[in-house]
Amino acid sequence: MWEMVNNRRVIFGENKIKEIPQILQWYGLKKVFFVSGKSNAPLRQHLKDQLEESGFDVVIYDSISKEPDLDVINEGKDLFVSSCCDCTLAFGGGSVIDAAKTIGMMATNGGLAQEYQMEGRQVTVLPPFFIAVPTTAGTGAEATKVAVVKNNHNGLKKSLYHNTMIADIVILDPTALIGSPERLTAATGMDTLSHAVESYVSLNATPISEMYGLKAIRLIKRSLENSYRDPSDIAAKGDMLLASYFGGCAISAGIGIAHIMAQPLGAMFDIPHGDACSIFLPLAMEYNLDAATAKYRDIAEALGVSDRNLSDRENALRAVEEVKRLRSAIEAPDSLTPYIKGRQPAIGTIIETVQKTTGHVSCNPRKVDAATFGKMFDLAL
Ligand SMILES: [Fe+2]
Repeated sequence: MWEMVNNRRVIFGENKIKEIPQILQWYGLKKVFFVSGKSNAPLRQHLKDQLEESGFDVVIYDSISKEPDLDVINEGKDLFVSSCCDCTLAFGGGSVIDAAKTIGMMATNGGLAQEYQMEGRQVTVLPPFFIAVPTTAGTGAEATKVAVVKNNHNGLKKSLYHNTMIADIVILDPTALIGSPERLTAATGMDTLSHAVESYVSLNATPISEMYGLKAIRLIKRSLENSYRDPSDIAAKGDMLLASYFGGCAISAGIGIAHIMAQPLGAMFDIPHGDACSIFLPLAMEYNLDAATAKYRDIAEALGVSDRNLSDRENALRAVEEVKRLRSAIEAPDSLTPYIKGRQPAIGTIIETVQKTTGHVSCNPRKVDAATFGKMFDLAL
């Protein structure tokens, strides 16, 4: 048994963001709540100008610099409501899109973010019309109904989600990625690869998530290195934007031990999410190898390194080696040590933090427990 929640419409292509005013006009909308970060300034300004020239009122909310917390969400919702906006436009990375999802939901449902995050308050009203335009290729947030929000009171990150929080329309415009810093391209690329691999071997994988996951892996193999080396390679950027979107579609099948470790340790040592995934992905593949050998063989095939004369296990090992090669080709990190800088808490504290955050995840193909968290941490040093 499974179900899949998808966007209503996905538009792919260079300069497709120019269609946004027409789309909003068709829906009869008038006042846009424009959520963004500070990056990609010229394109962001161009989009705002274009909306205003087309007769829209635009309310800018650009306070999203990192993963949104409860205050950012509550403040955004107050601004949305007080300025009487009727739709949401997110232009940014995963944090911006997640913030927009939650602000829109709360604009029609009311209350405070913590009530939905911690107290089980239910979404009962349809959120406003919502367009998402990703400007990084990594999180796949535009393809999901889930938002990760940091709780300012206990420091943990916890998801909020509802079937109606997914963007109505997604615009995948590779021009929005041009000029991304190399470090960001590498980190977000490793995040995408982690979504594709972890969802593919998940115990909750579905025929649809597997299809998206393998396609994402093929696109990453074809274009991650080019996207990293040449920030103006529009074809490579397009592939990575699609891979990120497909990874987001696949991730509804669940995350595994790489994300179980990467999320809390990233928060603890201030490691960008994609870099934390980069450190843990090959370790996770090695840990799970004997529990999902045939699936890792499929991944080796998608990565173009399988050999039909070899056993499944030998091919699975090739998949791990290829992920390590790719990681080093884009100079993504392979160790936690540089991030810890002598601030290493007791292993018990680390295990407890992992357990509190994501340690409950049960779809990893090999059983995980407290001892696993400690072992993975040691291996990542
Ligand atoms: Fe991720």
